[in-house]
Amino acid sequence: MPRVAVIGAGTMGHGIAELFALAGYEVNLVDISQDILNKALRNIEDSLKKVKERGRLKEDVATVLSRIRPVVGDVCSAVVGVELMVEAVVEDIEVKKRVFAEADRCAPPEAILATNTSSLPITEIAEAVKPERRTKVVGMHFFNPPVLMPLVEVIKGQYTSDETVKRVVDYVKKLGKEPVVVNRDVPGFIVNRILARVNEAACWLVARGLSTPEVIDAVAIYKVGLPMGVFLLMDFVGLDVVCFVAEAMKKRGFKSHPCPLILEKCQQKKYGVKSGEGFYKYP
Ligand code: CAA
Ligand code: NAD
Repeated sequence: MPRVAVIGAGTMGHGIAELFALAGYEVNLVDISQDILNKALRNIEDSLKKVKERGRLKEDVATVLSRIRPVVGDVCSAVVGVELMVEAVVEDIEVKKRVFAEADRCAPPEAILATNTSSLPITEIAEAVKPERRTKVVGMHFFNPPVLMPLVEVIKGQYTSDETVKRVVDYVKKLGKEPVVVNRDVPGFIVNRILARVNEAACWLVARGLSTPEVIDAVAIYKVGLPMGVFLLMDFVGLDVVCFVAEAMKKRGFKSHPCPLILEKCQQKKYGVKSGEGFYKYP
């Protein structure tokens, strides 16, 4: 069976590992502590049970789960013998560069090193690896929750070869997802450039006292027809991630008007679903 590594087992990493296991891949799933990995495996099991209940899984949940091998801390041992690594650690360029440098040292020369970054430059991440590997560094941007969301953005950095893009498009199709190739490494790619504007506009309506998160979310669902309210989606994505993404995009020249309410939530460590409170409470 082909083997892949997923680095980071948080909101996105656990879902990405689940997707590869569902498609028959053996997966090495890395995070910094056993507790985080245990939580990730529980989340994957809960999700697989839902997939099974919906009649979309022929195998047993336990069989799919057994294809995921948790690895504490050691990126190097996790990438030995893999054909693909997908990095989904925190949205911090320095942490990502360290992961890529370590993966470059230990992964087979033909392995693709992909990042699930929402906003950071693929080109700069590629500069953490040896020049001869840079053609194999690429953006592979899944959406939350990966198991349900059909789209994956495949982002070409300055060094990424067409062959790498083609191979990643093939992986996306094997996972049963719809690839969209983004040919320029612009901040926020396609989806987050749109979402950033929506988040900011909704947030400023509240900051100016013109509306409330509850009213805006009801309008978004019942009038605009979005599947989730704007504030609920920010809580679901994680307000820490929303803040990191907004900051990284601004730093890269994306014109924005950051809304203080989102920044306040981050300063108060109210990150949404993952911390129990964001714009809403999650008991
Ligand atoms: N795993 C497996 N199945 C799941 C699941 C999971 N994690 N979560 C829900 N399901 C199943 C449910 O069991 C349910 O099944 P039935 O229809 O058989 O009952 C079905 O999926 C629908 O779930 P719900 O009824 O609970 O909720 P829903 O109808 O609202 O759908 C949703 C959930 C698909 C997430 C939908 O709300 C949605 O599309 N929300 C928007 C998500 C979105 O926009 N994500 C992108 C965020 S931006 C991003 O990710 C990029 C970034 O860089 C920040
Ligand atoms: P998260 O905070 O839920 O998870 C990040 C995980 O990375 C944590 O479990 C953390 O312990 C782990 N980690 C940190 N340093 C590590 C290291 N050196 N080695 C191994 N693991 C390490 O974050 P998330 O929401 O899953 O986001 C991960 C990435 O995916 C970010 O780049 C983010 O921008 C991107 N992304 C997030 C979403 C979303 O909706 N949350 C959607 C698409 C893309």
